[in-house]
Amino acid sequence: MNELLLLNGPNLGILGRREPEIYGSQTLADIERLVADEVADSGWKVVSRQYDGEGEMVRAVQDAYDTVGAIINPGALMIAGWSLRDALANYPRPWIEVHLSNVWAREEFRHQSILGALADGVIFGLGAEGYRLAARALVRRAAQ
Ligand code: DQA
Repeated sequence: MNELLLLNGPNLGILGRREPEIYGSQTLADIERLVADEVADSGWKVVSRQYDGEGEMVRAVQDAYDTVGAIINPGALMIAGWSLRDALANYPRPWIEVHLSNVWAREEFRHQSILGALADGVIFGLGAEGYRLAARALVRRAAQ
């Protein structure tokens, strides 16, 4: 068991060309590399998945019960992804919710996450760096 799940939700597969002024210019492949570099010394392997559909996100969580932990950007599923929430309630390992943008500084409909209360930590607004910090936190936690 040395796989870290990196799970990104709807519309995150087009990072780099999706509203770069909000989400930055880094692509998902860049983020995957950044996370892989961060955990390399620990011997962890990153399993990266991105889905636009909630059902596929649910299945990815169900299939990841053997992982060491997860970094999850649920995208807009943070607002009403109830079946994803149910899947995460049964996920047995530490996981961190990451959002590239600071949703609190954006439209009001983004000002809630139904998932955050289940997460071991939540990072908003640090761009791609948020994924790196989440990876570091999970490695440190596993070492404790
Ligand atoms: C996001 C924020 C969400 O509100 C939005 O729906 C996304 C991206 C972020 O990473 O900042 O898809 O999760």
